[in-house]
Formats: sequence, C-alpha cells, structure tokens
Amino acid sequence: MILETGRVVATERIADLGTVIVVSAPGIASRAHAGQFVHVRPGERFDPLLRRPYSFNGIDRRTGELELIVKPLGPGGEWIAGRRGGDALDLLGPLGTSFVVRRSASNLLLVAGGTGIAPMKVLAEQESAKRNVTLIMGGRSIHYLWPAHRLPTAVEYVTTTEDGSFGVHGRVTDALPQYLAWADQLCACGPWPMLAAIGRMREEAERATSLLRGRDVLLDAQIAVEQHMGCAMGVCRACVIVTDDGNARVCREGPVFSLGDVRFEGGEPATVGA
Ligand SMILES: Cc1cc2nc3c(=O)[nH]c(=O)nc-3n(C[C@H](O)[C@H](O)[C@H](O)COP(=O)(O)OP(=O)(O)OC[C@H]3O[C@@H](n4cnc5c(N)ncnc54)[C@H](O)[C@@H]3O)c2cc1C
Ligand code: FES
Repeated sequence: MILETGRVVATERIADLGTVIVVSAPGIASRAHAGQFVHVRPGERFDPLLRRPYSFNGIDRRTGELELIVKPLGPGGEWIAGRRGGDALDLLGPLGTSFVVRRSASNLLLVAGGTGIAPMKVLAEQESAKRNVTLIMGGRSIHYLWPAHRLPTAVEYVTTTEDGSFGVHGRVTDALPQYLAWADQLCACGPWPMLAAIGRMREEAERATSLLRGRDVLLDAQIAVEQHMGCAMGVCRACVIVTDDGNARVCREGPVFSLGDVRFEGGEPATVGA
C-alpha cells in the first residue's frame, strides 16, 4: 500500500452511471488488481474529513494509469467527480483483496450492478484474451449501463434494465440462470440487494442435487462488497460485516469474499455480531 499524488489525465461523464476519471498513478497502478480499491482524499482541506473508497475501473501498468468511476452521491463523490485534467488526487492504495480467476476456467461469467461494473470491467479486460468472458450488467434504465464500446470486443455483453429501455427487461438475476450451465466460474459486484439475490440462488443450489447444471459455479462464486469505511487500514472497524468465520473487515479481509461466506439479512449485510 502506498500514498501517491495522482495526476488527473481525463474525465468523462457516463450518462447517469457516474464520472470516469483517468489518473496517472504509476506506483499504485503497478501493484493494483481487480477487486482492490483506492482510498481517495475528497478535498484539499479537512471537510470532508474522511477519504472515500473507490474500486479500480481500469488498470494500465504500461502507462501507469488508473481508471475510477465515481457517483457524485454526496460531498466526497461530488468533489472527486468534479476534478479536471491536470488536477492532483491524493490516493492511498491498492487496498483489500482481489478476485482470483482459476487457471482452469474456460468460461468466466461476470455480473455487475451499477458502479459494481468497475472490478468486472477490469476482469473482462484482463481475462478476455485468455478465456471466454460473458458480462451481465443491470441498471435501472439504459442511462445506468456501461457503454458496450468501452469493453473488449471479445467479451459477450448482456444487459438488463428494470424499465425495459434496453436489453432484457428485468434484473441481472433474470438473465443469470441461462448462463450458469455454461460458466466455469462466477464473479459479481453490485449493490447489496443484487448480491443477496445471487446469494439466495446459491442457497437453492446448495439444497439441490449435485446434478443441477451450474450448481458448482454458484457454490464457488466470489463477490466484492461495499461498506461504509473510515480508515480502510483495518484499525477503526467501521467496515465490519458478518461472515461464516465471524466478523470481517471489508477493507482487510475483503472487499472480495466467497459468496457462501457472507451473511445477508433482508437483502443487506447481516447485523454485526459481538
Ligand atoms: C470497496 C469499495 C469500493 C467502492 N467502489 C465504488 C466505485 O467504484 N464507484 C462509486 O461511485 N462508489 C464506490 N464505492 C462507494 C463509495 O465509496 C461511496 O459512495 C462514497 O464513499 C460516498 O461518499 P460521498 O461523500 O459522495 O457520499 P456520502 O455523503 O458519504 O454518502 C452518500 C450516500 O451513500 C451512502 N454511502 C456512503 N458510503 C457508502 C459505502 N461505502 N457503501 C454504501 N453506501 C455508502 C451513504 O449512506 C449515503 O446514503 C465503493 C465503496 C467501497 C467500500
Ligand atoms: S475502514 Fe477502518 S477497519 Fe475497515
């Protein structure tokens, strides 16, 4: 993990999904992996005080550039999304765990919701030269989808929208079942209700016969989760969630977990135990 002053190279608004920020930060870029994140200082003074975590949406070791996608939700996101070419950005990273793609996986299935596209896009870029990759992305409408032309052409891109404005009418979990039999491995990132819905599919698969096609893919699925953070260095415990192994810090033991280890409660992370 290093502290690095990045230099903003370019920014671009992607409809209602967020703002893509390309940052030159060769130190962090040389160590970053899909699923990990940077803790970004959201201002030059002390308000807002806390850094904000953002997943890598692109990692280019050759140019030393990183890409983030930032929703201008509150004061931190607004300030970061408002940076322009040439501005400095104070970054701490790379932080957390990363996705592990098995060498033996021929067919990799990626599932993204909202800005959960970030680590899925990095995986698609890194893996599509080595194996077949299908990416399913869901959004409220066409305005919340990642643009197809910004993905490698080798990637099969399936989209779902809740209002039916593009792709499959529904949610990612409506499109997912038909790809499970094809896939050798599943990785997902998105809002908690989406991950909880995939978690319910996994529970059903666990109860089903071992002959069910796609069962092993659900049982072995990996997910990246988001949680409110303070230090992002494992000290403050602001980011704790409940797993089968007890409480886990999303910033240290995560953000990538085995789907089967994470406990959900009503579509959200389970309440933190003692
Ligand atoms: C590992 C990780 C990776 C992330 N990657 C991205 C990303 O690629 N793009 C992106 O836009 N956002 C990402 N986030 C979420 C992002 O960090 C928060 O949205 C951001 O901190 C909000 O700051 P703010 O000042 O803009 O809004 P605030 O005013 O702090 O919050 C605005 C709203 O967002 C909620 N919120 C704040 N932080 C989180 C959080 N960590 N998880 C869920 N809800 C939160 C608040 O409850 C509030 O409703 C990630 C979070 C984590 C933990
Ligand atoms: S954010 Fe402080 S322990 Fe994870």
